Amino acid sequence: MLSSFLLFSLPLLIIINFFAKIEAVKCHDCVGINCTGQICEGDYCVSGHYLPKWGFFLEWIETKIVKGCMSGKMLKSDIQSQCETTFHQNGMKKSTCFCNSEDFCNGEKESEKHEIQDILLFTCICKGEHCKSPKCVGELCSYVINQKSGEYEQGCVNSSMPLIERRFAGSCMIPPATGAMHHWVSKNAIDLAYTESCLCVGDNCNADKPKYDVEKEKMKCDAFIRANIFGTKMISQNVTCIGEYCFTIDIDSELGLLRSFNTAGCMTFIEGAELAEELNPVGCAKFHSENLEVKSCLNVSFERTKNKVI
Ligand SMILES: *[C@@H]1O[C@H](CO)[C@@H](O)[C@H](O)[C@H]1NC(C)=O
Ligand SMILES: *[C@@H]1O[C@H](CO)[C@@H](O)[C@H](O)[C@H]1NC(C)=O
Ligand SMILES: *[C@@H]1O[C@H](CO)[C@@H](O)[C@H](O)[C@H]1NC(C)=O
Ligand SMILES: *[C@@H]1O[C@H](CO)[C@@H](O)[C@H](O)[C@H]1NC(C)=O
Repeated sequence: MLSSFLLFSLPLLIIINFFAKIEAVKCHDCVGINCTGQICEGDYCVSGHYLPKWGFFLEWIETKIVKGCMSGKMLKSDIQSQCETTFHQNGMKKSTCFCNSEDFCNGEKESEKHEIQDILLFTCICKGEHCKSPKCVGELCSYVINQKSGEYEQGCVNSSMPLIERRFAGSCMIPPATGAMHHWVSKNAIDLAYTESCLCVGDNCNADKPKYDVEKEKMKCDAFIRANIFGTKMISQNVTCIGEYCFTIDIDSELGLLRSFNTAGCMTFIEGAELAEELNPVGCAKFHSENLEVKSCLNVSFERTKNKVI
């Protein structure tokens, strides 16, 4: 009896285990707050915001709510279903939800069941042509330097697309990882390849350039920016930079004027920064929605992984 039970149940257990590990959720894959339509499958369902910016252009489209799937090794396997919420002055709620509690958990109704975490807003120093006053409010404070001209600007950054800003919170990077992170300091792609953007967390944390340990800068990475803004192509030279990690970002979109954006570069965590809890230090993650695809990868060189420096 027992042996036949084992004989039959063991493979079954293995199969169950195997499927438990690769279990995917089905998600709404569409644009809009109450949208339904296509379906995608991934490690997590997401309901997020998309508001592409490009330095001196302010906003090209109103914020779009994008629903879709997120997968990849950059995401931890045990993220609790949750929504992060912030309130605009006009009382409108803005939330980004991650979930895998059930199929279609990124629906508007279903999202109400998830744990809520408030997104903190900080007051930051604002200096530069983009500023309306000497202080601004945002989810992150920024300090951006054009390394060729030495010009710098300080300001505020809110998340503009799923995945990216959270990944780069508490770091300095070359080039800026999204068009929302470079304000007016660099007005073309060639300069952007030499522009460093630091994003810190805390009131006035951008009063001075955030510090990082130069010892950490160990990787030599490819750096470039290629963007297609409604048919206008911007391409930087291919250069290299030094940092703690190498990153790549690829965005394809049919929403708004930013049609594609590809960049590679270096990032280094600033002193005391903590990685967002749902993310692993290296790996790729991909967000897919009907009209938007965002892929982001962070890697370290083989030597560093081997030496367990991370
Ligand atoms: C979304 O649906 C809710 C009810 O489920 C409704 O109150 C709300 O007005 C809808 N929003 C939009 C933008 O259609
Ligand atoms: C960021 O969002 C907050 C809250 O909605 C808003 O008050 C602030 O002006 C925004 N900052 C930027 C730089 O867009
Ligand atoms: C940069 O490298 C890519 C290949 O990765 C190549 O297609 C492109 O032409 C290069 N650009 C310049 C300006 O050298
Ligand atoms: C790491 O990323 C850099 C670009 O950022 C790329 O050139 C390199 O091939 C990547 N290495 C691995 C192992 O993926």
